[in-house]
Amino acid sequence: MQTTAEQLIVRGATRADLDAVVALETLSFPVPWRREFFVTEIDAIGRFNIVATTATGELVGYVFAMFFLDEMHVNKIAVEPSWRRKGIAILLMEECFAFARRNGVASVSLEVRESNAPARALYRSIAFVESYTRPRYYPDGESAIVMTCELAPGGEVA
Ligand SMILES: CC(C)(COP(=O)(O)OP(=O)(O)OC[C@H]1O[C@@H](n2cnc3c(N)ncnc32)[C@H](O)[C@@H]1OP(=O)(O)O)[C@@H](O)C(=O)NCCC(=O)NCCS
Repeated sequence: MQTTAEQLIVRGATRADLDAVVALETLSFPVPWRREFFVTEIDAIGRFNIVATTATGELVGYVFAMFFLDEMHVNKIAVEPSWRRKGIAILLMEECFAFARRNGVASVSLEVRESNAPARALYRSIAFVESYTRPRYYPDGESAIVMTCELAPGGEVA
């Protein structure tokens, strides 16, 4: 029987997850973060780094985010290709919003490649709006769209 999104385990990311995280990162991004970036993020303060795994420990997805005062920024999100379109990115982003609610975060932001239609659709589906463009933001010269989700007082999506 296939595992469903509801049966996944979502927990804080640790150094022990990094082999699998880096493998999925490399598979998912044209200019992936190097392992050292993830090591730095795992150890840094003001971070909200989570993974979703199956009951047997297979990595299915991750989010690496940072927060400061009332703002949160999602640095990375990826879902393992064979698990996509099953609601796992939504599940991970809901964990971010729940963390935001508990910690007085008022807005969540992120950058997304102009050409990344799946991710832009994902974010629009969870109330992010496209705020502005950062020209040539990525190392290969592609521009980024900055997307923001404002949370109402109490943390609900506004
Ligand atoms: C973007 C990504 C994280 C989405 O993960 P996912 O688990 O497949 O997303 P979900 O199943 O939660 O999708 C939620 C909604 O987002 C939108 N969406 C997601 N993937 C989509 C696609 N390929 N095409 C169109 N819409 C898409 C849909 O509205 C979808 O709802 P639906 O399936 O009911 O139509 C995944 O495709 C991925 O890892 N991509 C590579 C890494 C990446 O681009 N990360 C984002 C960087 S900014």
